[in-house]
Amino acid sequence: MLRLDKFERYPLTYGPTPIEHLPRMTEALGGKVQIYAKRDDCNSGLAMGGNKLRKLEYIVPDAIASNADTLVSIGGVQSNHTRLVAATAAKIGMKCVVVQESWVPHEDAVYDRVGNIMMTRLMGADSRIVPDGFDIGIRKSWEDAIQSVKDSGGKPYGIPAGASVHKYGGLGYVGFAEEVRAQEAQMGITFDYIIVCVVTGSTQAGMIVGFAADNRADRVIGIDASGTPAQTRTQVREIVDRTAELVELGRAVRDDEIVILGDYAYPAYGVPSHETNEAIRFAARTEAMITDPVYEGKSMQGMMDLVKKGFFPDGSKVLYAHLGGAPALNGYSYTYRNG
Ligand SMILES: Cc1ncc(COP(=O)(O)O)c(C=O)c1O
Repeated sequence: MLRLDKFERYPLTYGPTPIEHLPRMTEALGGKVQIYAKRDDCNSGLAMGGNKLRKLEYIVPDAIASNADTLVSIGGVQSNHTRLVAATAAKIGMKCVVVQESWVPHEDAVYDRVGNIMMTRLMGADSRIVPDGFDIGIRKSWEDAIQSVKDSGGKPYGIPAGASVHKYGGLGYVGFAEEVRAQEAQMGITFDYIIVCVVTGSTQAGMIVGFAADNRADRVIGIDASGTPAQTRTQVREIVDRTAELVELGRAVRDDEIVILGDYAYPAYGVPSHETNEAIRFAARTEAMITDPVYEGKSMQGMMDLVKKGFFPDGSKVLYAHLGGAPALNGYSYTYRNG
C-alpha cells in the first residue's frame, strides 16, 4: 500500500479521468493491439486542464502553508505548465509571475500571442518573455523572477519547470496509477503497457512509482519529447527516488524499470517532424483526439511506430496517457493551415 493519503491534496480537477477504448485507431493500426486513452487532457474546468493540475494539487497546500502571495514558475513561450500555474494562482487567489523562455524556434507571427500564453495573460499572470533557450533544469531566469518578487515586497512560492523537481512534484502521478488500478478493477481488464510523453520527468516518474507497487513500472513506456533524453532520464531517476521514499514504496526502483525511448523527439523540442504531424492528423481523423506538436503528437507518433514494429505482443492492451497540450496548436497555425 502506497502512502499517498498522508499528503494533503487541494482539488483542482474534476476527479478520476475517463478511460476510453479507441476502436477506429485500434483497427487502423492493424487490430492486433487494443488501444485505449486515459483523458487527463479533460481533467478540469481550469483553463482547459492537463497533466500539471494533478501535480499542482499536491503542491498548493504547501504554497498556502508557506504564506506566499505569488506563485513563480517557468516554461517556454507556449508552456502548458505556466498556463496551469496561472490558472491555479487565479483559483486560489494568489498573484502569479511566469518566466517564458524562448525554448522553440517558430514560424508563426502570432506564436507569442495565442494559445497558452494568451490564456496565461487573460488570467492575470505577469508573463515575462526572456531569450534563454531550452533546458529542463533549474534556471537563473526563474531565480531572478523569485528575487524580483521579494524585492518588490511580495512573498514568492517557486514552482520549477513542469513542477517536476519540486519535492512533491511526483505525487500527482502516483495518484494516476492508483486511479488506473481502480478503473481496471471496475472494467475487468489490465493494461499491459502505458504510453506517456516525458520531458521534465515528474509525470512518468510518478507513474513509475505508482505502478512499481504492482511490479509493472517497466510497462510505463516514456516517449521523450525533450530531445535531451539523458538529462530527462537523470531527472526522472531523481524524482522516482524522492517520490518512492515519500509514499513509502518500500524498495528501490531499478534502473531497468525506467524505460524512456529517445527515438521520436527529432528534430528538436517543440519542433514537429513530418512523422509527428502525420501522427497528429491520424489521431484527429480516426478518433477526433487532438494532440499537439510539442508533446502528445510525439508520444502518439511513438506509440504508432511501436505498434507497427511489433513491440507490443498481439492481444496487448495499451493505454495512451493523454496529458493535454492542445492549446499550443494555435502557435503552429502555418504548419496546419491545410489540416
Ligand atoms: C501536454 C504535455 N504532455 C507531456 C508533458 C511532459 O510531462 P513532464 O514534463 O512531467 O515530463 C507536458 C509538460 O512538460 C505537457 O504539457
